[in-house]
Amino acid sequence: MNETLERWGSQRAFILAVTGAAVGLGNIWRFPYVAGENGGAAFLALYVGFVVLLGLPVMMAEILIGRAGRRSPSQSLAHLARQAGQSTHWRWVGSFGGVTVFLILSFYSVVSGWSIEYLVATINGSFVDAAPDQVAADFERFLADPLRMTFNHTLFLLLTMSVVAAGVSNGLEKLNNLMMPLLYVLLAVLVFHATTTVGFAQAMDWLFTPELSAVNPGVVLNAMGHAFFTLAVGACALMAYGAYMPDHQSLPRAVGMVAILDITVALLSGIAIFSVVFSQGMDPAAGPGLMFVTLPIAFADMPLGSVWLGMFFLLLLMATWTSSINLAEPMVAGLQGLGWRRSRATALVTVSVWLLGLLSVLSFSTLADVHWLAGRNFFELVSTVPSDVFLPLGGLLIAIFAVWVLPRDIALRALDAGPNGFRLWRAVVRYISIPLMCLVLISSLI
Ligand code: TRP
Repeated sequence: MNETLERWGSQRAFILAVTGAAVGLGNIWRFPYVAGENGGAAFLALYVGFVVLLGLPVMMAEILIGRAGRRSPSQSLAHLARQAGQSTHWRWVGSFGGVTVFLILSFYSVVSGWSIEYLVATINGSFVDAAPDQVAADFERFLADPLRMTFNHTLFLLLTMSVVAAGVSNGLEKLNNLMMPLLYVLLAVLVFHATTTVGFAQAMDWLFTPELSAVNPGVVLNAMGHAFFTLAVGACALMAYGAYMPDHQSLPRAVGMVAILDITVALLSGIAIFSVVFSQGMDPAAGPGLMFVTLPIAFADMPLGSVWLGMFFLLLLMATWTSSINLAEPMVAGLQGLGWRRSRATALVTVSVWLLGLLSVLSFSTLADVHWLAGRNFFELVSTVPSDVFLPLGGLLIAIFAVWVLPRDIALRALDAGPNGFRLWRAVVRYISIPLMCLVLISSLI
């Protein structure tokens, strides 16, 4: 298989595509509830630290491999390994990434389906003057209804895969251009509202005053996993996007932008959501339903609340859409690399992800008490282990490949940050990121 000729249309298009991959459920839905379960500020501090020390350097490693290889992830790894005179078994890192995104996309599509449900409910006026208890009870009722959940999961997956079928560098650019600025405006409105609520001070304190006593190995592992998840790093999905990156664009500058945009979205939604949590005397550790219960309540007492709420779910849907497109791309590119036509590859991925997603759907009703590992039901398993263990493991292998296998001149050119920038990046990956990943993985698995 030869080099891909597909390219993002411009430098801006590349940054938007990677931001689109990064900003999604991870920032708006996952960050608040995982922070809620892990004590708040301590988790936030660790997560930001991991983004800087691990997430960013490994993200650069991942994208530069794709950019240097210009093929599907597995093929890029094999091709570059061959050039370096090393084993082509490195291709299995690409396959491992494929398994990881497969598992993640299966639950991601289900949860994104919840936003479709909530968008429609908002348009129908279901949340006008809704009482907090009512909103919580409605969410429970929705979760207990596998048919409605399956319908939304199906719809969302079809939405995603129809873009993937057409090739990601068409179409995605326009979607991102429209969505990202609007998302920020809406979050700003929400945060402004949050400052007027009684829970605001408590939320700020809870998010920004870390307590060391709240830190244990589990919290550290979760924070590391979340840093990878939110940046979309560790599963070769950004490697697939790197293959389409134009020449003459500095990689560190591009990913630096992405990280800032990504963290900001998480912080803004955290402030918005926890202000409601504390205003209403709710439990921050309420779990995956946190966002879906708090936001309708927050908007209910705002003027034109339903209009804002509807816009919010629409934007959330667009944000998750661009992320799930990124999750699907490496699988489709991988099958294409094996000689499949894009249409057939897309069809196979769609059907398999859909089927696996049904197990997540049923985890909220029929299979709720069927435990697969350490007391976790299927949804609890698939929404934690791939992110918290597989992504860091994949990231570790990607980092090792980039700094010890890939020939220096190839990496230097693909990073495009000059010799000093290159030396700094490589030193950080070698002496900080890699040891840190090993340390956290080993200590938490023991
Ligand atoms: N970063 C996305 C989010 O926060 C999820 C995501 C997109 C992802 N592509 C990925 C996670 C690749 C891991 C790997 O919602």
